[in-house]
Amino acid sequence: IKKIGVLTSGGDSPGMNAAIRSVVRTCAYHNVECIGIYRGYQGMIEGDFKEMGPRSVNNIVNKGGTILKSARSKEFMTVEGRKKAYENLKNAGVEALVVIGGDGSFTGAEVFNKEYGFPVMGIPGTIDNDIFGTSHTLGYDTALNTVVEVIDKIRDTAISHNRLFFVEVMGRDAGHIALNSGIGAGAEEILIPEEDLGLDRLLESLKRSKESGKSSSIVVVAEGDKIGKTVFELKDYVEENMPEYDVRVSVLGHMQRGGSPSCFDRVLASRLGVKAVESILEGKSNFMVGLLNDKVALTPLEQAIKGHTEIDKELLRVSDIMST
Ligand code: F6P
Repeated sequence: IKKIGVLTSGGDSPGMNAAIRSVVRTCAYHNVECIGIYRGYQGMIEGDFKEMGPRSVNNIVNKGGTILKSARSKEFMTVEGRKKAYENLKNAGVEALVVIGGDGSFTGAEVFNKEYGFPVMGIPGTIDNDIFGTSHTLGYDTALNTVVEVIDKIRDTAISHNRLFFVEVMGRDAGHIALNSGIGAGAEEILIPEEDLGLDRLLESLKRSKESGKSSSIVVVAEGDKIGKTVFELKDYVEENMPEYDVRVSVLGHMQRGGSPSCFDRVLASRLGVKAVESILEGKSNFMVGLLNDKVALTPLEQAIKGHTEIDKELLRVSDIMST
């Protein structure tokens, strides 16, 4: 293999730049050319390529976002789109691809590999931490730290006004951010997509906490929580049933996807980038590189896409005990 392409795709996450840097520099280290592909698969279809050397990734290890930009390409889901992409790669002499993204991006890579036998390697980049085959996805640790920092600030004002806050965090299908940041920030209750806590239990818990002498509370809600209510509906519900509560809502939104990556994410990105490139050079394809038991390990892309990440029940219990 003489030339490797790298792209970022899907929702961005802190650490993607550190991973691009790692891929580019590992290529240079092994005397392999590296091509940056802009805007994910869309840029592959449009031939939006740029040669990258070790100096083109200076000073990005600490930067959020992705210098290669990201996109969710509808065209790549079509046979014609993928054909154009393949021809562009062939014309540019690219012989293998590193895809930094989530399961949607990996699905694209897998289909492309099946159709053209093109070597692909995935690096898990999403703040949601919902990819099978890695204990941590790139950006998850940073997002947790961002959320905890913000909830600490919300707590200050909640205490001053004796208020209850519903804080919505990201996680359309996964509650990892909510559960871990909730425990880290000392939330009263945590609502996640994987478990139905039930509205009754929420009210019970809020009642208990008032009776036990707490004057303010934080409830962390994943955007895809199983109760199926938005934070605004939850506010209305609690105000109707417990008028003694003064309730406010805070939706953290996309701030969770930005910011300088934590040291953990930078190190992880560097390790995964090295492994991705070196695995390609060893002739491997159709894998995702991830972190398992603190070691970098390969998981077949198909498993990474189809496998489910479980919520740790122990964390649910810890959260329960902590709200006593
Ligand atoms: O990055 C994953 C994620 O944060 C989900 O939790 C969220 O639902 C989604 O991205 C929103 O992404 P976008 O606004 O880019 O569609």
